This record gives sequence, C-alpha cells and structure tokens, in this order.
Amino acid sequence: MKVTVPGDKSLTQRALILASLAEGESRLSGLLHGGDAASTAAALRCLGAGIGVLPPDGSEVVVEGVGFTGLTPSDRPLDLGNSGTGTRLLLGVLAGSGITATLTGDESLRSRPMSRVTEPLSRMGARFEYAGQEGRLPVTVHGRHPLDSLDWMSPVASAQVKSAILLAGLVGGAAVRVREPSLSRDHTERLLQSVGVKLQSGAVDSGWQVELAAPPERIWPFDFAVPGDISSAAFVLAFAALGGAGEELAVERVGLNPTRTAFLDALVRMGANVRVEVDTAVWGVERVGTVSAAAARLRGVCIGEDEVPGLIDELPLIAALGARAEGVTTITGAEELRAKESDRIAAMVENLRALGVRAEERRDGLDVEGTDRPLRGRVRTRGDHRIAMAFGVLGAIDGNDIEVDDRGAADVSFPGFWALLESLVAARSTA
Ligand code: S3P
Repeated sequence: MKVTVPGDKSLTQRALILASLAEGESRLSGLLHGGDAASTAAALRCLGAGIGVLPPDGSEVVVEGVGFTGLTPSDRPLDLGNSGTGTRLLLGVLAGSGITATLTGDESLRSRPMSRVTEPLSRMGARFEYAGQEGRLPVTVHGRHPLDSLDWMSPVASAQVKSAILLAGLVGGAAVRVREPSLSRDHTERLLQSVGVKLQSGAVDSGWQVELAAPPERIWPFDFAVPGDISSAAFVLAFAALGGAGEELAVERVGLNPTRTAFLDALVRMGANVRVEVDTAVWGVERVGTVSAAAARLRGVCIGEDEVPGLIDELPLIAALGARAEGVTTITGAEELRAKESDRIAAMVENLRALGVRAEERRDGLDVEGTDRPLRGRVRTRGDHRIAMAFGVLGAIDGNDIEVDDRGAADVSFPGFWALLESLVAARSTA
C-alpha cells in the first residue's frame, strides 16, 4: 500500500521564513499545515509578511516577502505555540532586523532553553530581556542592524542554533562562522544556497563548520516544493516493520536529506526490510524519494552519540520499537532528548514501564528490554507529539491496547496521524 505524509516541519518553517525575507512573491507548496507551521506563519504575518492560508492538501501558497529591513514591530507578543524551531530561527531573524518583539509559547516551549541562541546573538549586538526565568520564554528581543560578526562554537550539534546564527548574519549583514560537534540537519544551508547565498562548509577538527563570509544585501523570491517529513514517515514505517499493516507500506515523496535518514539505517540494523528509491526526477534542493518497509522479526539495537544528530527526533520511536524487539535496545549520547518538547528520556521510560516493559533511564539515554507480552495501559504524552505517536504505533499492533492521554498532541507535526493509522489498521482487517 502507498501513503504520503504531511510536509516536512523543518523545511516548511525555513521556507516560510526565507520567503518572508525575500523581496517579492515566492510560491511554496507541500507545506505542513496546522501545528508548528501555523504558529510560525502567524508570527511572520504579525511581522508584516503576506502569507496565505496554509491548505491541508499542500497546494500552493503565495508568500509576499518584505526584505531584510521590511519587518514591522508587532504590538502583541508573538505566540510560537509548541514550535522550538520557529522560536529559535525567528530569534535569529529578529536579532538582525533592528526591531523589537516579544516571543512566547505554550507550557512546553516556555520550559525549553533559549540561551543557546540568545547567548551567541547577544555577542553579535542584539539585546534580550527575559520576562521571568533567565533563558526561558517569554523573551523580548531588541534587534540591531547591522550586527557584529561572530565566530561561534556551539557545544551541541543543533540545527536550530546553527540556523539562528546564519539567519542573524544574513538579515543583520554580518559575517558569521558556526562550528558544531557534528553535522546537524543542513536544510538552512541548502535553502540559502538555492537562493544564491554563498556559504562555505566542511568538516574541521572540532566537528563541522559553516561560514557566511559575505552576506548579500537581499534575497530574491523563489519557488519551492516541500517534501513529506521523514520524521513523520518514520512512524508509518515502524508500524509496517512491526507487522501492523500486514503488507509492505510505501511512503511516497518523502524528504531523504542525508542528515535526516539515520533512522532508516537503525531500522535495517533492527532487522527490518527497508527499501529506498530516490526520485531522480524531483531531486532539487533536497533529495526526495519513496521509502518502503515490511514486517520483520526485530532485534534490539545500540544507538550511540555519533548517530544521534541524524535521528534525534526518531529516538522515542526507536525506544518504542525496542519494546517489541528481541534483546535490549540501548541509546546513549542523547542528553539533548531531555530538552525537547518534553524530557523524552523520562517520558519514554515512565510510559514503557506503565505498559509492563522493562526500561531504565541513563543520564544521556535509556535501555529498553523487548518483550512478546501484550502491551496494555495508559500513557502520558506530556503534550509531546512524538511521544503520542510512538505509543500510537505500538498501540495499533495486534494484541496491544494502549490509551494515549492526549492524541491531539500529534497535530503539531503530523495532522491526520490517527486517521491514517486507523485506516491502515482497517485495511489490514479487511484484507
Ligand atoms: C530542528 C532541529 C532539531 C530537531 C527539531 C527540528 C530544526 O532540534 O529536534 O525537531 O528544524 O532545526 P535541535 O536543533 O535543537 O537539535
């Protein structure tokens, strides 16, 4: 059976931001609708960009960009909802824009660390005032134009940190160089290069480095089709690998950026049958293709630090798969999981245990012991979309019965997740 998944969350938000900064009308399609995309689009509209309604079918949206110096202050706080990417990237944009704005978000976002971006952006000359706890939203950013140049070593491999600095350099007309311990997703770099921005990047002793040496004065509008989100496809593929579909499932038109596909390697190591076909016809800024998975007997897997940036968002799902794999699944070098939409180490271990699975926290990861016993019980999502979907997949497997306390949490990245899952289960029962 063939399915598609909603547009990539990372690319949707970057495309909306860059189109808003371009001078003129861009045409974007395949955008994620609802959830995090809606939050970022709403914030950009408050800042003066013209962005049409994001349609559920991914059809074309016209964005009227205002240029680097055309953003206008908003008289009310920008509410980024659950979106860490939207918040951190916009902090970079606003830092270089010369305007003042206040950013806030939902309870989860207000508990997440922001100093990892406000610290380097302050060094460039922007000013940040935290309303309550230092380093947590709400924060007011007083941008400056132009900004000072920056050479920054990020202690974490984070695409959000890297992108915030690159965008600040772009909008604020400042040269920037960012180093990170290893290469994090490179969507910002690819999109910037596709609109003619010159970047130099490559491996260095301390990890990976990207440099914007000569920021351009403007970027021109562009057309871009966002592929399906590999992080959403992962849930469908995991369901197929666990035998949930009763047949092979293929996810079409999915993004295959090499910095995002480590989950597929992990799934193969677990014993799953995975096929990847790159669609050469639509190979543009980002690689796109079809990924298929079929049922297999899974075995436990070890995920270590080197692999983590390439599958950071899929780790809750790997832990869930570990509950149904033979032997132990171990994740290490992933302390970042504690700073996501929830503390994903604590959330996975607590919920797996609630279902009778043996699981232990590590400071920087977890261990899960696979079992054949039916998994039954109630799980607490902590408002985290990926926790909700990881247990949604497990719960849809024959013999399991899992109540997810907040199914709506899935909407921020995968609107239609539950309906798709139910249709796949129904298709299996009628086959
Ligand atoms: C994202 C980067 C990752 C990822 C998040 C999306 C992005 O976060 O977990 O879901 O779009 O840049 P970090 O950059 O904090 O690792």
